Amino acid sequence: MPLVNTKEMFKKAYAEGYAIGAFNVNNMEIVQGITEACQELKAPVILQVSAGARKYANHTYLRKLVEAAVIECPDIPIALHLDHGASFELCKDCIDGGFTSVMFDGSSKPYEENVEEARKVAEYAHKYGVTVEAELGKLAGIEDDVNVDAENAQFTDPGEVQDFVTRTGVDSLAIAIGTSHGAYKFKPGQKPKLRLDILQEVSERLPGFPIVLHGASSVPQQFVQEVNQYGGQMPDAIGIPEEMLREAAKMAVCKINIDSDLRLAMTASVRKYLAENPSHFDPRQYLAPARTAIKDMVAHKIQTVLGCAGKA
Ligand code: G3H
Ligand code: 13P
Ligand code: ZN
Repeated sequence: MPLVNTKEMFKKAYAEGYAIGAFNVNNMEIVQGITEACQELKAPVILQVSAGARKYANHTYLRKLVEAAVIECPDIPIALHLDHGASFELCKDCIDGGFTSVMFDGSSKPYEENVEEARKVAEYAHKYGVTVEAELGKLAGIEDDVNVDAENAQFTDPGEVQDFVTRTGVDSLAIAIGTSHGAYKFKPGQKPKLRLDILQEVSERLPGFPIVLHGASSVPQQFVQEVNQYGGQMPDAIGIPEEMLREAAKMAVCKINIDSDLRLAMTASVRKYLAENPSHFDPRQYLAPARTAIKDMVAHKIQTVLGCAGKA
């Protein structure tokens, strides 16, 4: 099946109480690891590309890699999504360049500017059958060199969501309920907490409307230990507990964004391989196990967090 937008994926996910994994892709091994797991488990998937990924790997290379995955994985719906599009121009570029879904991220702009630009993106995107995600509220963490510290992060105000969605016409909404970007989501000793009460209130104000969770990596401790054991330095890396994400996926959350866990799986595997095989220098030797580590991690996520196995 050809690349799809997120409309039908989210409709089904909402109705059946599961979420679609949205995984960031930056190179071939990442695309392959993710989609092999999804194909085997018959799980729909969103492959997302950030502005940084486009800068690193080039739009066309990434799009062609994803198109190759569509051919190799004929049984599953795959959407190609722009992650954190900071402007109308960037969103337009991706819509014109074959993406089937875009995020316009105006979360750091004043409310009215966010509304106006998201509306413009939705109007343009919908002409081409492309779905649009927007964001209200501010997550802590780092994305594309923008660093929002915990003090400047803000939970989404449920009082704004109806006005925002009605005026912009977007198809899904990312909200801030305590997740954050990166591998350091909570301080050691701090009890991880998600404001599922805010999610509940948002979904009461937007019945049937798909909600998105960014910053949703769980930072599996076996990867952190492996990184640290083989020469890395990631003390106190902590993520969102899997059971909290599962809870959110049973509610209105239809898309769960994961990037840091991919980075960790890959880095832990490469560090271990090179430490144990110091004479090897063929990249295929260390990238093959890294790709398998991604595949296993994604399979685990589909089964325990997302609940989307067999939903293709
Ligand atoms: O939310 C941000 C994603 O992890 C993408 O990160 O901008 O470094 O590619 P990046
Ligand atoms: P993580 O850093 O938790 O993986 O979040 C990724 C993300 O939100 C991409 O948009
Ligand atoms: Zn994000």
